[in-house]
Amino acid sequence: MSSAALPGSPHFAYRSGRLHCEDVALEDLARRHGTPLFVYSKAAMLASLAAYRRGFAGRKSRIFYAMKANSSLGILQVFARAGCGFDIVSGGELERALAAGGDARDVIFSGVGKTRAEMRRALEAGIGCFNVESEAELEVLSEVAREMGRTAAVSIRVNPNVDPKTHPYISTGLRSNKFGVAHERVLHAYRRAAELPGISIAGIDCHIGSQITETDPYLDAMDRILDLVEEVERAGIRLGHIDFGGGLGISYAGEQPPRADELWRSLLERVDERGFGDRELMIEPGRSLVGNAGVCVTEVLYLKPGEQKNFCIVDAAMNDLPRPAMYQAYHAVVPLAESSREAHTYDIVGPVCESGDWLARDRELAAQPGEFLAVMSAGAYCMSMASNYNTRGRAAEVLVDGGQAHVIRERETPADLMLKEKLAP
Ligand code: LLP
Repeated sequence: MSSAALPGSPHFAYRSGRLHCEDVALEDLARRHGTPLFVYSKAAMLASLAAYRRGFAGRKSRIFYAMKANSSLGILQVFARAGCGFDIVSGGELERALAAGGDARDVIFSGVGKTRAEMRRALEAGIGCFNVESEAELEVLSEVAREMGRTAAVSIRVNPNVDPKTHPYISTGLRSNKFGVAHERVLHAYRRAAELPGISIAGIDCHIGSQITETDPYLDAMDRILDLVEEVERAGIRLGHIDFGGGLGISYAGEQPPRADELWRSLLERVDERGFGDRELMIEPGRSLVGNAGVCVTEVLYLKPGEQKNFCIVDAAMNDLPRPAMYQAYHAVVPLAESSREAHTYDIVGPVCESGDWLARDRELAAQPGEFLAVMSAGAYCMSMASNYNTRGRAAEVLVDGGQAHVIRERETPADLMLKEKLAP
């Protein structure tokens, strides 16, 4: 496969037949650090961020990296240093954001099930805004804030009932999803928020789904949000910011989602037309900042030819890369070393004891045992969703910056996995 055919980022390319991440040969990293190994390109992350910033040039805007996509400290540090805030969904993510050098004031807290303890900790740390997802949550948040003698800045997450045309598990803005406050309840929720002593209203929020590859669902959602801004402000409640969530897709298999700057050019035209150009715009992108900036390098263990299927068994598995098993997701898989050997068709599978443990199906491969493959577009929702199933330690991670490679996570050992466990007396 030539570099021209690699999906995603130009920061991964073949040089003299060897796949590189920026200036580092992936095979050298695999031999030095072992496999499975996640490798990330810092330049790729910063390039994705720059595309959003071009789209927002000259505007009041802030970017909150949705850290659920990849919450490794070394990745968060890149975004904190680049001036991003963080969109969090748990108390655990708050601690990570702070540990990576994030500023609590640049943290916004999303999620349908915030606990009182999480609210308390977030208020104590001084986060910027809670994205409230139900009327019941508003009441609890006000109570918790009052007990602490504080007020919580909130935006209400609206469920705009827009079909993002993506996988059903990752669409979030439909009436049938658990997320957000239904469109017709939003004004009511804001009126209540305005009465509550522990709440101050900061803005409005929405997020319609993930891996969105078309502009239209975004434009629809923007129209519906702006309708609500008009309605809520007619009732005398001022909304300082509009948080438009994340969701922009990436290329896994040659999809062509709009570029972040182009998407925002169209969205901002709409915002201006409707007279809201003065509002602060906030976004919560995850996948589009990191997805194409990472790969997972894995070693071929065995080839197992069969009557119906040929299997290529590798040392990465569904615990490292859960997306194929969970969403039937496609990730391109390419060899680290180009070869002219004859290719055969394989299902690429891991060592985990589940038939669902597959990484790729019906792929043409010429690789032999002992050689390495790269699972592409593995920067988002892979390491952050990894598990220890089958008592497999989570993989190591390396961040590449030009010709330098920094280990940002060591491979977990069996001792790490048993650390919190005890034998009964
Ligand atoms: N904001 C909120 C409130 C969200 O729920 C999400 C993602 C994001 C922002 C970031 O969305 P992104 O820009 O990454 O699309 N595990 C799935 C994706 C789940 C996304 C959940 N919410 C996958 O591997 O495809």
